[in-house]
Amino acid sequence: MKLIVTGGSGFIGSNYLQYMIANYPGYTFINVDALTYAGNQENLTSIANHPNYRFVQADIADRAAMELIFAHEGVDAVIHFAAESHVDRSITQPDIFVRTNVLGTQTLLDLAKQYEVAKFVHVSTDEVYGTLGDTGLFTETTPLAPNSPYSASKAGSDLLVRAYHETYGMNVNITRCSNNYGPYQFPEKLIPLMIQRALADQPLPVYGDGLNVRDWLYVEDHCSAIDRVLHAGRPGEVYNVGGNNERSNLQVVSTILSELGKPESLLTFVPDRLGHDRRYAIDADKIRTELGWSPKYDYQSGIKSTIRWYLDNQDWIEHIQSGAYLGGRS
Ligand SMILES: NC(=O)c1ccc[n+]([C@@H]2O[C@H](COP(=O)([O-])OP(=O)(O)OC[C@H]3O[C@@H](n4cnc5c(N)ncnc54)[C@H](O)[C@@H]3O)[C@@H](O)[C@H]2O)c1
Repeated sequence: MKLIVTGGSGFIGSNYLQYMIANYPGYTFINVDALTYAGNQENLTSIANHPNYRFVQADIADRAAMELIFAHEGVDAVIHFAAESHVDRSITQPDIFVRTNVLGTQTLLDLAKQYEVAKFVHVSTDEVYGTLGDTGLFTETTPLAPNSPYSASKAGSDLLVRAYHETYGMNVNITRCSNNYGPYQFPEKLIPLMIQRALADQPLPVYGDGLNVRDWLYVEDHCSAIDRVLHAGRPGEVYNVGGNNERSNLQVVSTILSELGKPESLLTFVPDRLGHDRRYAIDADKIRTELGWSPKYDYQSGIKSTIRWYLDNQDWIEHIQSGAYLGGRS
């Protein structure tokens, strides 16, 4: 099987490529990534020289550049991770979110249709469902009600993927997962940010009252879910992916402090993020029962191995902080 993996130099995409090359060494993987600030080739050093891995630097919204790849490669599937992914940035710069997440996805869909790609897996987010109160879970039939420019752009891309199935009969799947954590996450995101600040004895900024709840999913479990969807997902279906690990931001930050032996006094409350969703929680029954997927990690084991990874890979963090990971690009 030959696959285009978009956004393979980012957090989840690079974990996915490593997971897939280990499990399917005979498949061919073409990583298509624009290398924005979030793309880091140092995530892929372990597979960069694998004979079945190739990298192409290109923007998914650039149709001519994308067409060169689709026309010459004859791929069987597209696994679409590439996106602008940081909610805070979407509040100040919504335009790039629409360009990459909506127009970029539509460009890929169009080319996948034109070149008769057999499967298109679109990696989306539970944030498209909006926010929950104290109880209840998002299911695949929960109406879309995105609240941030990021989640609105992801919802827009989900609807285009759905439309290409309904209109042209394309074999698509959409996965909607909860918050991922694990190795290679860019240190603007909650868990790596807090680990770094705690290690440096700096204040840990927590939005609002810290009681916003997320369902934390260890990234390797997300990769195995996408693997199941690629191989067994029914055409046109949406699959929620969740770790069944609801934690408030305050609980997450407290665990990090206690694992690192740092005082709670480092916690600092800062004004809440605009439009901050209160609670996300996922019902992942469909992927469990239909595709036989289940997560391997619970929160305790996942957070411990994540903290261990950041402690063991301080060079990786330092290269981001110094800008060395950019390899000369701006
Ligand atoms: N991280 C999470 O917790 C989470 C949760 C749910 C869904 N998702 C979704 O999973 C996917 C991957 O998320 P992530 O956390 O790995 O993101 P990330 O920001 O770490 O990586 C995104 C990658 O996409 C690339 N990219 C950005 N714009 C591009 C463009 N125009 N053309 C080509 N490449 C481009 C970047 O260079 C980067 O390598 C996204 O679609 C995101 O919406 C993430």
